Amino acid sequence: MKITIIGAGYVGLVQAVCLADFGFNVICIEKDTEKLRDLKFGKIPFYEPGLEDLFRKNLKSNRLNFTNEFSENISTSDVIFICVGTPPKKNGESNLSFVDQVSKDISKKIKGYTVVVSKSTVPVGTSKRIENSLKKNNSIKSFDVVSNPEFLREGAAINDFMRPDKIIIGCRTKKAEKILKKIYKKLKRPYVVTNNETAEIIKYANNSFLATKITFINEIADLCENIGAEVETVAKAIGLDGRIGAKFLHPGPGYGGSCFPKDVKSLIYQGNKNSTDLKIAKAVDRANDLRVKSLFQRVKKITKNKFNNIQICILGISFKPETDDVRESPGIKLARDIGKTKAKIKIYDPQGMKNAKKELSKSIEFCNDEYEALKNTNLLIIVTEWNQFKNLDLLKVKKLMKKPVILDLRNIYSKDIVKLGFQYHSIGNN
Ligand SMILES: NC(=O)c1ccc[n+]([C@@H]2O[C@H](COP(=O)([O-])OP(=O)(O)OC[C@H]3O[C@@H](n4cnc5c(N)ncnc54)[C@H](O)[C@@H]3O)[C@@H](O)[C@H]2O)c1
Repeated sequence: MKITIIGAGYVGLVQAVCLADFGFNVICIEKDTEKLRDLKFGKIPFYEPGLEDLFRKNLKSNRLNFTNEFSENISTSDVIFICVGTPPKKNGESNLSFVDQVSKDISKKIKGYTVVVSKSTVPVGTSKRIENSLKKNNSIKSFDVVSNPEFLREGAAINDFMRPDKIIIGCRTKKAEKILKKIYKKLKRPYVVTNNETAEIIKYANNSFLATKITFINEIADLCENIGAEVETVAKAIGLDGRIGAKFLHPGPGYGGSCFPKDVKSLIYQGNKNSTDLKIAKAVDRANDLRVKSLFQRVKKITKNKFNNIQICILGISFKPETDDVRESPGIKLARDIGKTKAKIKIYDPQGMKNAKKELSKSIEFCNDEYEALKNTNLLIIVTEWNQFKNLDLLKVKKLMKKPVILDLRNIYSKDIVKLGFQYHSIGNN
């Protein structure tokens, strides 16, 4: 079976590498010339733990190849996975221009029966839209469009691909279902087989539910701060209730990343378009936006709104640990807000600095490690909970800082840290 993957981003490249590792012949089409050059030279264009080794192994085996050439590759493929981006428009609607372009390009090239699979997160009706695009080419005899949404998490993508909780197959024929099951045979995980439209909405319902859980505990954290309670204990206790579960109950600066914010907004847009007022999703979206915007208020409260001659250290700028992705990262918003004051900002992140530099002002100093970033600072803000930040040499930190004040937006330390002479501010504790 010959497989083509279109788009070598966080989803497409993982899919391509893992399927090549399963023994399939995989061609990956990437239009970005810089990314393509890296890939051809054996370098992956982003950070994902474990991906580079698996990538190199499969590159050597010659089962994995990269190109920007559609023609020959599309016409000889049995299965084509669309893995391009679906960024949000200003009104929340998903921008389908990349998917449309790819469908058009595919429609001109496919010849025999081909299965076209959407891995990208796409609104309900997109399978139909791809089908219509393919039908425009009268010479195409037969094809199937499948919706097979992806649930991997950046930072744990290989494991999530190899051991997914479920595999969703939204299709219209048994033939397409059988082909998808053949591809994923090695995974031995539960399938949910349904129609394309249900598969499409499952992805949005899934991500919006997780975003709701995060937003809920964040609001409980705010209440805990005002009543002298401890949110971590509340989260632990309610998480022990089997009906609730412990995951996604960690209070923090608000959710970010390339998926949750855009998927919640797209779900709301789809509801509005289909006469359904999704009140919970709207509340979640609003609460999270306000939370990220209000992070700067926490900083102002600590500095008493004085920023002259102040240096602030930000540890962690990626939207979560183990990724270099800074899309919709709360840290980026916070750094921009602080950047409007007279304070000097120093940032360190193990992987996210290259991408952050493209987003932030040139006046920000990007440092080589956490201790360099802490030197002579008046405030440390922990934005992303990278493991290496959980074990800082606190005596050294105290010596390096001008004033030992910490704003811990991920609660990776406890208030016991005050015993070492730090002023400590966390989320949801008082
Ligand atoms: N990143 C995640 O954690 C994640 C998880 C699950 C689902 N998704 C969804 O998967 C989709 C892809 O996300 P991503 O994070 O991998 O995006 P990405 O931006 O990292 O990658 C998309 C890639 O597609 C390429 N591309 C765009 N148009 C192309 C074309 N015509 N031909 C060839 N290549 C083209 C881009 O150059 C880019 O490299 C989105 O819909 C997203 O919502 C993402």
